[in-house]
Amino acid sequence: MSVSNIGYARIESTDLDAWHNFASDILGLMVIRNNDSDDTLKIRMDDHPFRFLVQAGKNDRLLGCGLDCGSKNQWQKNIDILADAGYAFVKSSDEEAIARSVTELAVGQDPSGNTIELYHGRELTEEPMISPTQSQFITRDASSTDLGFGHAVLPTTETEKTLSFFRDLLQMPVCDDLTPPMPEGAPPARVIFMHANNPRQHSLALFNHPHPAGVIHLMVEVSSLDEVGSALDRVKKAGLPLMATLGRHVNDNMCSFYVVAPGGIAIEYGFDGLLVDWDHYTPTVSTIGDLWGHEYNVPT
Ligand SMILES: [Fe+2]
Repeated sequence: MSVSNIGYARIESTDLDAWHNFASDILGLMVIRNNDSDDTLKIRMDDHPFRFLVQAGKNDRLLGCGLDCGSKNQWQKNIDILADAGYAFVKSSDEEAIARSVTELAVGQDPSGNTIELYHGRELTEEPMISPTQSQFITRDASSTDLGFGHAVLPTTETEKTLSFFRDLLQMPVCDDLTPPMPEGAPPARVIFMHANNPRQHSLALFNHPHPAGVIHLMVEVSSLDEVGSALDRVKKAGLPLMATLGRHVNDNMCSFYVVAPGGIAIEYGFDGLLVDWDHYTPTVSTIGDLWGHEYNVPT
């Protein structure tokens, strides 16, 4: 496995204040903004300098996902393998790397046009993470292995090529291939889940349709069901739209709901995600995504 974890996501927002309030008051994340004219929010959930970087802009969309390659050697190897297959991931400037608190960075696109940022050497911070809602985010296992911020589900227009990009070139193994039941007349859906070199059941998934926000959803995990319930209360009190009601997934066992962030990116907020010993795991092909709940309200 050539990717250690999904370390961060970069987001563009047309309303930074709304994202600030959403991340802080609803999700319970720590938001760092140097001053009111700062056009960037650093959003923390642990000892990383940020897990989400939200930049003011003209669109509401995902700008990119940061994949931690674990070491300089593996980072260079990944770049070389992608280059041999025709994917240019060029080393970014020191300034760009410093802005992400990483030692080295290379940015490129997968075959569906999703921006992927390969890096190594993330600098952690000793400043305590203080959640405004006393929430605790799960980003490490018992042996302190970095599980990443959670997971991202990316849209695809070239599903097979994109699958090959992550599975064969970046060596992220598929752990579940889901074709969920769809309402009559709806186009067939397929969600392909992949894991990185850590026990989180999936770190990345591909959904076989495009999406205007450039992402199907981002997932964050908290440490108790009460934290999920309290967050759901806050969502309801704020009148925010849900993309899915409370429910539990089959493959990663996540008990979660999906809320729509300002601008339209869906955030899955969950608890109880499965941690896997990959030496004793058989990838699944499934047709049912949910054990219960998760009544989806997806705009057409
Ligand atoms: Fe998810």
